[in-house]
Amino acid sequence: AGRMASLFSQYAGHFLSGARMALILSLITVILSTILGTIFALGKMSHIKPLKWLISIYIEIFRSTPLMVQVMVIYFGAAAFGIKINVPFMKDFNSFFWGLLVLVLNSSAYVAEIVRSGIGAVDSGQIEAARSLGMSHGLTLKMVILPQALRNILPALMNEFVSIIKETSIVSLVGISELMFCAKDVVSISYRTLEPYVIAAIIYFIMVFPLSKLVAYIERRLNASVTR
Ligand code: ARG
Repeated sequence: AGRMASLFSQYAGHFLSGARMALILSLITVILSTILGTIFALGKMSHIKPLKWLISIYIEIFRSTPLMVQVMVIYFGAAAFGIKINVPFMKDFNSFFWGLLVLVLNSSAYVAEIVRSGIGAVDSGQIEAARSLGMSHGLTLKMVILPQALRNILPALMNEFVSIIKETSIVSLVGISELMFCAKDVVSISYRTLEPYVIAAIIYFIMVFPLSKLVAYIERRLNASVTR
């Protein structure tokens, strides 16, 4: 433990910048996947057959293959086609770009199902009741469907954020300097193989555990505010 503490104090800046990168990636991912996932969910509920098929194929591919494999295929796929995205303001932007893209595509597939089942879970009897009371389709959507769907969707979306914080560790494989990548750095600088990973585990835990408890609390509050 003494060695771990001294290793951490020696490389604290490194670990913390890795943790910051993990949080930045997760935040951008969840924001973009909430938008994209909702669009895909609505597309899948539309009546345009080819659109429904395309979206279903995309969702099933991304949910039925490991994220690690997706990262490799897309990153090296882009490299094989010579597609490099570079910007003057950030070195290694190419890795960041493709890693983030895969996280967003992966997460959007999960979010699309979250949104779709959240909307699907709203009791159809209530929709019929609203319509028979003379509420328009739009008003029913706004006053009856969406408030209830949000109660289903919001906690699941926050759990997706929690998952993504952990999943960002995968993109260390393509050279994004998030927490896991920084831990590997410290391994090679310090010749300690175990301690840097234990430190990374502790930092992940500190980021994820309180957040997952918060989500559970919010979920309880949302469910307590209504009697079904
Ligand atoms: N670890 C699983 C995989 O490799 C899940 C990935 C993503 N999960 C998510 N909620 N976006 O496929």
